[in-house]
Amino acid sequence: MGTISVTQIDPRVASFIEKPRKMLINGNWVDAVSGKTFPSYDPSNGEVLATVAEGDRADIDLAVKAARKAFDSASPWRKMTASERGRLIWKLADLLEQHTEEFAYLESLDNGKPLTIARAADVPLAVDLFRYMAGWATKIEGNTIPLSVPYTPGARYLSYTLREPVGVVGQIIAWNFPLLMAAWKLGPALASGCTVVLKPAEQTPLSALRLGELIMEAGFPEGVVNIVPGYGETAGAALAAHNDVDKVAFTGSTEVGKLIVHAATGNLKRVSLELGGKSPNVVFKDADMKATIPGAASAIFFNHGQCCCAGSRLYVEKPVFNEVVDGIAERAKKIKVGRGLEPTTDMGPLVSSEQLNRVCGYLESGFSQGAKAIAGGHKTSDKGYFVEPTVLVNTSHDMKVVQEEIFGPVVVAMPFSDPEEIVPQANDNVYGLAAGVWTTDIGKAHRMAEHLQAGTVWINCYNIFDAALPFGGYKQSGWGREMGHEVLNNYTQTKAVCARIA
Ligand code: NAI
Ligand code: MG
Repeated sequence: MGTISVTQIDPRVASFIEKPRKMLINGNWVDAVSGKTFPSYDPSNGEVLATVAEGDRADIDLAVKAARKAFDSASPWRKMTASERGRLIWKLADLLEQHTEEFAYLESLDNGKPLTIARAADVPLAVDLFRYMAGWATKIEGNTIPLSVPYTPGARYLSYTLREPVGVVGQIIAWNFPLLMAAWKLGPALASGCTVVLKPAEQTPLSALRLGELIMEAGFPEGVVNIVPGYGETAGAALAAHNDVDKVAFTGSTEVGKLIVHAATGNLKRVSLELGGKSPNVVFKDADMKATIPGAASAIFFNHGQCCCAGSRLYVEKPVFNEVVDGIAERAKKIKVGRGLEPTTDMGPLVSSEQLNRVCGYLESGFSQGAKAIAGGHKTSDKGYFVEPTVLVNTSHDMKVVQEEIFGPVVVAMPFSDPEEIVPQANDNVYGLAAGVWTTDIGKAHRMAEHLQAGTVWINCYNIFDAALPFGGYKQSGWGREMGHEVLNNYTQTKAVCARIA
């Protein structure tokens, strides 16, 4: 348990992380078939926080079997009415809400994010997502369709569509919002009537495992949700390639997203992907600076820049470039970087030493290509995975730091003179997850929204999420959408029924 004294943290959390955590298969908490375990670390000091059962192919097999059995047409889950399914999801939301404090602590310890943020954002957003999806369970409807078949003159038909669950779903998620990503994935899968094998990220398995306990407490039948922690190359790859999995939903790097697509070819399982980004954030000279400067700072620094949609490429119209960039740098310098559990912390550590090395590698690459830091630029200590909030200037289009996803608190800022040229420049990137526009000109704002190639465009705001608002990527940022009613397309398939009635 490292340097955390158990009296400092919620006692329920202390007792949860004291014991080695098992995996959830067919309603039972079990060890890995191999007996192996792996450590989850506290990113604020690099010490082992908890020990977790290490799933691999054999465990994934058992979990998929359990999910398949739970999806059988005679199973309690499949016999449940839509209303009963919705009420179970709603109950899970209530339970999660009652344990907000406990989950906020777990999330802060395992991921490093400030407790205050986990409490105000991660947990309430997950609760709200489950409530929103609970409502959809009774509203997944097909259509009635008039037919005009030319080669059966005079015949009449009754035709309609059924929207049915796709079946057994494998869900592989990342570590930046461990609980919220689990909710984004589980909520719509359960509302649609699917069964699930969830593999949390190896860096942050704890909140998903605790959620598994609440799922059983809520009364979901055994096997409907199975949770198998483990590494990507083993448990993740086995799940992605499994021939009895009907669909895989993935959140993570674009690199692994491509591996998931390859792995799906065995049985042509459906795939949805929520991948990386390098999102442009465009500030025009007519923007309201009081909102824009804090907004553009938070667009990159929220969650330590570990957001797939982070506003990491900042384009500022020349006359206000210095004002905006200096304003963001000033805010960056005031951000208090520290341990997530400290109430005064604004920004915690990065999630892992691997992530720290990646971000520091990008900083070095930027400096070697001529970039200059007007705030930050370094890691802050030898203990824990802390990096200073960083603003890079003297950057240009072809630099690695401008083209590639850094996934840390590092923004690259570039001036522009011709508003006509900013759209092609903003769009000249392999990603297309999100974009920001700051202006008081309403027409310009919506013209920009039309032309930016991104799944989300925020105007005079950034990082605004809602369970009802679809989120996902254009180009190499992904396939399909999370949230909103659009996400139900990921978990349902359409059956056309055609009956001759005359
Ligand atoms: P990753 O893509 O390797 O990991 C994400 C998930 O995929 C984890 O659960 C992992 O265990 C699993 N995974 C890894 N390899 C797999 C495989 N071969 N088959 C099946 N599952 C596999 O991401 P990682 O290494 O944690 O971060 C690397 C970079 O990815 C970050 O620096 C960032 O740029 C990006 N990233 C993007 C995220 C997003 O929200 N879109 C989230 C996390 C990372
Ligand atoms: Mg990885």
